[in-house]
Amino acid sequence: MSQPKLKLLYSKDFIADQVRRLGEEISGDFEDSEVLLVGVLKGSFLFFADLARAIKIPTVIDFVRLASYGSDTRSSGIVEMRKDLELPIKGRNVIIVEDIIDSGNTLETLYHRLMLREPKNLRICTLIDKRGRREVEIEADYVGISMDDGFIIGYGLDYDEQYRNLPDIHLVEGL
Ligand code: IMP
Ligand code: MG
Repeated sequence: MSQPKLKLLYSKDFIADQVRRLGEEISGDFEDSEVLLVGVLKGSFLFFADLARAIKIPTVIDFVRLASYGSDTRSSGIVEMRKDLELPIKGRNVIIVEDIIDSGNTLETLYHRLMLREPKNLRICTLIDKRGRREVEIEADYVGISMDDGFIIGYGLDYDEQYRNLPDIHLVEGL
């Protein structure tokens, strides 16, 4: 694969400020109780780790792995659960932690599957809300950064499995 051109979009300091704010919002909303963070692998791994440390109330963690079929830059709407939760969520305050909402298909599928398990609350926290290409009606309760469109990488986000380890988020130009 030839190296695409990257342009710095959100610096690690800017991201850290947003993550700190999200941690405060969540800690305030669930004061005196416990939250169960559900990380959506793999893209959320860095955001998840930082967010978990920014939450100041009792927190337990679990992960799901989803795969949506499609091209490198666009999902198809067919979503498979490759790894399920290990903890029961019935009666608990559950927050899905996603890297990015694009079409919304991935999250809509996960949201409805988890709702069937009767959590006390089911909320959505996303680092990036890409609003320009939404195909289903789904809104996150906690949003780090809103953007319109464009393919981005870094801080967990990949392009063909590359760049997840970059500390800042960059726009991939020419896609
Ligand atoms: P959706 O189902 O279209 O909302 O897609 C969500 C998933 O697509 C995310 O969890 C990412 O894995 C991937 N995705 C969507 N947009 C981007 C992007 O700009 N960069 C990297 N991955 C993305
Ligand atoms: Mg993802």
